[in-house]
Amino acid sequence: MSESASAPVIAKGLAGIYSDTSRVSKVFDDTNTLTYFGYPVQELAEHCRFEEVAYLLWHGELPTAEQLKKFEQQERSERDITDKMLTVLKQFRKDAHPMDTLRTAISFLGVEDAEWEDASPAGNLQKSIRMLAKIPTIIAADFRLRSGKEPIAPRKELTMAQNFFFMYFGEVPDEKVVRCFDASLTFYAEHGFNASTFTARTVTSSLSDIYSAVTAAIGSLKGPLHGGANEAVMHMLLDIGTPENAQSWIDEALSEKKKLVMGFGHRVYKNGDSRVPYMTKYFHEMAAIKDGQKWVEIEKILEKTMVEKKNIHPNLDYPVGPAYYLMGFDIPVFTPIFVMSRITGWTAHIMEQLENNKLMRPLSVYNGVPQRTVQPLESRKAA
Ligand code: COA
Repeated sequence: MSESASAPVIAKGLAGIYSDTSRVSKVFDDTNTLTYFGYPVQELAEHCRFEEVAYLLWHGELPTAEQLKKFEQQERSERDITDKMLTVLKQFRKDAHPMDTLRTAISFLGVEDAEWEDASPAGNLQKSIRMLAKIPTIIAADFRLRSGKEPIAPRKELTMAQNFFFMYFGEVPDEKVVRCFDASLTFYAEHGFNASTFTARTVTSSLSDIYSAVTAAIGSLKGPLHGGANEAVMHMLLDIGTPENAQSWIDEALSEKKKLVMGFGHRVYKNGDSRVPYMTKYFHEMAAIKDGQKWVEIEKILEKTMVEKKNIHPNLDYPVGPAYYLMGFDIPVFTPIFVMSRITGWTAHIMEQLENNKLMRPLSVYNGVPQRTVQPLESRKAA
């Protein structure tokens, strides 16, 4: 490809670049508010169960009571995983990261689906519901196998949030804990052209299948700059250990050049993210129920210092990490739980991409060696 006459503009990390339109969600810069199909996410978290939000992201409207019942019947009927899938999960190293096992399991789900090529809107919606229903079962079974325990089969009479606790711990906790978890799923469900969603849309743009797109998206979400931050936040809080250590820890971190404080900063929100105060409220509720006040104290010291000294605000992973920890989840399972929710946003975008597809193919500015001639092997010298 020839170089253009005018110097090309490079947008590192595609920052500030609009690559398409999308009706799924919007961030309002002035209020730092996120809406899904026009509904502020905090209102959805307050008034709706996660299943209603999943329906909204796929249909563009909240369900009626009757529509929700039908949708939930469908989701609940898809929760079981096959014996072959269980056999696959049993092959994994016990210390394999659950994001790697989940990525492999979704890839295997694609192999199990004889109709993987059906990319019609109805076909992709059915596959999306299947992944929504089976991902919690896969995560819980994988966790239990890793811990030397027998997997627990899903139960149809439970909501998605309740059923996940049941499959993971063998019991459903207090309703307040379930509410907090359910709200976190709603907050995590969708967020525009973030790295993993853009990855899913990029894979889809070559007309590859939905399982391939989701497998790739899981790989993208795993990184600590993206979804992996919720795990990194908890490792950081554990490293700090006590409220007494927090101030000196953050002062030292800020004195180190380029040291990242996990759970802070965002590509889009530069003045704070409106989901954070709502999720923080739930985290504080968990701390009150589960005797976790010390994490609240550490959280407050870090946030105050980051805002005062750097004007960098916390992102959603900051309250979610300790909230999941207090619920009793294993830290490496935090990002797979994010997948359990974001599968809705990813698949909504995959279906939207296919409605008006164009292959993603950006350009790069070449900065390598000038053109040269290949030397025959016998006369080549080491560089
Ligand atoms: N801790 C310390 N400094 C941070 C920071 C953090 N968490 N986030 C941003 N900064 C600093 C950067 O070092 C940079 O400083 P500089 O101008 O002196 O180089 C400045 O703030 C601007 O940051 P930038 O890297 O341009 O922001 P970005 O939009 O590219 O990055 C993130 C956004 C999310 C990748 C970044 O904030 C980050 O790595 N956060 C920690 C990981 C995390 O929580 N990820 C979850 C995101 S939802």
